Amino acid sequence: MLNLLKHPLLTHKLTHLRRKETNTKEFRETLEEIAGLMAYEITRDIPMKDIVVRTPLTDCQTFELAKDIVLIPVLRAGLGMVNGIANLIPGARVGHVGIYRDHLTLEPMTYYVKLPENLEDSIVMVLDPMLATGGSASTAIQVLKDSGATTIKLVCIVGVPQGISRIEKDHPDVQIFLAALDKKLDEKGYILPGLGDAGDRIFGTK
Ligand code: PRP
Ligand code: URA
Repeated sequence: MLNLLKHPLLTHKLTHLRRKETNTKEFRETLEEIAGLMAYEITRDIPMKDIVVRTPLTDCQTFELAKDIVLIPVLRAGLGMVNGIANLIPGARVGHVGIYRDHLTLEPMTYYVKLPENLEDSIVMVLDPMLATGGSASTAIQVLKDSGATTIKLVCIVGVPQGISRIEKDHPDVQIFLAALDKKLDEKGYILPGLGDAGDRIFGTK
């Protein structure tokens, strides 16, 4: 199911990411900010549990998060979203899935997997700024399901209908969160209008 997050601050910051002139430093900082704003919305309905804490004056019946949160950046570009979310959820554990798209076939190639334990009891957030063909995200989600994850949220910044359809077909149980729904892919599999190659823009590799 697609959740298209709408907020003036998100749109404003995404406009800055899209701009060709935005340099690496600003791109990184803005991506982090967007990820944090998205996390605030995405976690709105996560389960809470009752607890009692002692204030300086008395006991207080209150709540805290009931489940562990695990962040899974898809390398490389997903790394650019981790700090923005971890700043809000400092207890979140972080796993890594390394996937690149073959330049000719656009098929996802998995080259690294390192995951925390107890995925089955956690809320797992897959982070990748770009949802293009959907092949990379679908593969990452399958890796997580094979390792026991049951509650998975896919958090991307920009997506296209093709990628959304792919995830809805392969993983109908996974909620998809986007800050923008773009038009289509070009002949090389880049999102139009998009923001270019997210990994290259975060790490300054081109
Ligand atoms: C980019 C992006 C996604 C993938 C999206 O990674 O970060 O992981 O492409 O495309 P898809 O939906 O068609 O699979 P890329 O392959 O450029 O690897 P990189 O992050 O290491 O540069
Ligand atoms: N990966 C990117 O980094 N950008 C796109 O537009 C598509 C895939």
